[in-house]
Amino acid sequence: MKSKGILKPYFGDTWRIYASSFALHAAASIVYAYFPKVLGGFTDRLQSGELAGHDVVRYSLLLLAVGAGHAVIGGYGQYLIMYVGRLFEFMTRRRLFAHFSELSERYYSQNGVGKMLSYFMNDVTGVRESISMGINQLAMATLLLLSCIGAMLLSDIPLYLVAASVGPLLLIPWIVTRFGPAIRKRSMRVQEALGAMTETAEEQFGGIRVAKKFAVEPIMTERFGSYVDRIRDSQLSLVRMSSFFQALVPFLGSMSLIVTLALGGYLTVTGKLTLGNFVAMTLYVRMLMTPLQQIGNVINTVQRSRASLQRLNELVEVRPDIVEAEDAVPVDLGQAVVHMQGLTFSYPGASEPALRDIDLEIAPGMTIGIVGRTGSGKTTLVKLLLRMYDPPAGAIRIGETDIRKLTLESLRSQIAYVPQDGFLFSTKIRDNIAFSRREAGQEEIEIAAKQARIYDNIVQFPDRFETKLGERGITLSGGQRQRTSLARGLIKQAPFMILDDSVSAVDAVTESEIVQTIREERRGKTTVIITHRISALKHADLILVMEGGQIVQRGNHEELLARPGLYAALHAIQEEGSQHAAGHY
Ligand SMILES: Nc1ncnc2c1ncn2[C@@H]1O[C@H](COP(=O)(O)OP(=O)(O)O)[C@@H](O)[C@H]1O
Ligand SMILES: [Mg+2]
Repeated sequence: MKSKGILKPYFGDTWRIYASSFALHAAASIVYAYFPKVLGGFTDRLQSGELAGHDVVRYSLLLLAVGAGHAVIGGYGQYLIMYVGRLFEFMTRRRLFAHFSELSERYYSQNGVGKMLSYFMNDVTGVRESISMGINQLAMATLLLLSCIGAMLLSDIPLYLVAASVGPLLLIPWIVTRFGPAIRKRSMRVQEALGAMTETAEEQFGGIRVAKKFAVEPIMTERFGSYVDRIRDSQLSLVRMSSFFQALVPFLGSMSLIVTLALGGYLTVTGKLTLGNFVAMTLYVRMLMTPLQQIGNVINTVQRSRASLQRLNELVEVRPDIVEAEDAVPVDLGQAVVHMQGLTFSYPGASEPALRDIDLEIAPGMTIGIVGRTGSGKTTLVKLLLRMYDPPAGAIRIGETDIRKLTLESLRSQIAYVPQDGFLFSTKIRDNIAFSRREAGQEEIEIAAKQARIYDNIVQFPDRFETKLGERGITLSGGQRQRTSLARGLIKQAPFMILDDSVSAVDAVTESEIVQTIREERRGKTTVIITHRISALKHADLILVMEGGQIVQRGNHEELLARPGLYAALHAIQEEGSQHAAGHY
């Protein structure tokens, strides 16, 4: 499906409301254009001395009706547009969020979260200003202009007076087109500066604890200050330009008034114009100024939000990298064998492949261990299994089907992936654990917590499983976070589980307890354990040793120990370390 941008679907849904609002504004403007006519008539009758007491009351009531009619009808028209403007924000933010959640890891590794937030907040609001307040003012102003001009032409005010008085105002479009692009350029700079600031703020708040530990706050503050300065400079330059522009418009309005006063006054004195029409004419000119100024404002707003709209449209155009095949079929990981054959994979834009020539078969129920140095490709291998990135065609098959032909939902829902730094949300612990199974009961949650060896910690927290994490709650240690995230993986009871360095921050004793529990609990189910500690892998059916994106050794614990190589070397170092440690206690 091709994206139709942001505005088309919105106007498709709301054009009727806009049309109603325009109709209301038109009615309101026609009513309002009576205002000078009523006052003019009043003046003429006042001058001729034929005004009686009850006439004053009648004119007052007429004016009241004009004022109230204009206010009520126009106000309702305005309300309608403001209302759908809010609807736009709501619709667009929902749509963006759905879109964001479809975008792949690759997109997020290239685009910061601050940028997303800025799209979400500033750009959506920017566009909303244009299509609600902007369109509203434009409609109001244009219709009022038209009805004023219409009323002037229908009155017996001489045409040349109308032309001369309105003349200076006609310079406004010219000024607007001169200033518009310059204002737009400056406003784009402001938006960019804002985006950059949000992005560093986001990053620096995230890293504030590191900064404190290294005592580099002054450097951070200074660096952040430079972003704020950039915003100030670009904003001041925008304000200078747009203020000058906005001052010019009323100035032209005053010029019009002067012409009206001079020429209209002369015509009145020489008897060519009635006093009433003179009064009406000055009121018309005065009334024209506001809408013209509003049009200037609208053009400013539209210029500002055009950049925002462009960014939003580009964003919804971004297609997710990982898309489900149209003929995708579900998979049963409890039954199907995973085949990897000659799997070579490079990250987009990387010069070196992260995986080379991987051949591997994982039968259901196996326990696979993977060891290898940081950067050897272990995480990449499991990311491909989760289809976070697309492997080359045919390189990974599950059962007989290429992984790219499987439904994403069936694949991902059957794999419990526990990363090294599992993200925890700022909600209750129980919700974090029951993340993939909202319906899980307290008992299941407690079992998972016990299996992950986090139960004893949780029951010591003030509200036990209801304890809140994050900003408004308690902060967990690295090991506690890992074990909470492990419990989240375990409760899924998936046929296929991947522990990717999931307990690296947990002490060795607890780790072997956890591994032991997993062995018992996951008997008959597939488990992949990536770890640095060889002791955790002794019982694996198959152990892979990875190096530079390749599998350099494979076998079970005994087989690998019997051969010289990385595994035996690692084993020697770790055994020696633990014996050394044992000797000290
Ligand atoms: N998102 C990514 N984009 C580009 N290169 C990446 C990305 N993630 C990892 N790599 C690179 O791929 C290689 C393997 O990384 P990884 O699979 O994370 O190793 P391991 O999990 O064994 O520590 C490394 O050289 C790493 O720099
Ligand atoms: Mg890794």
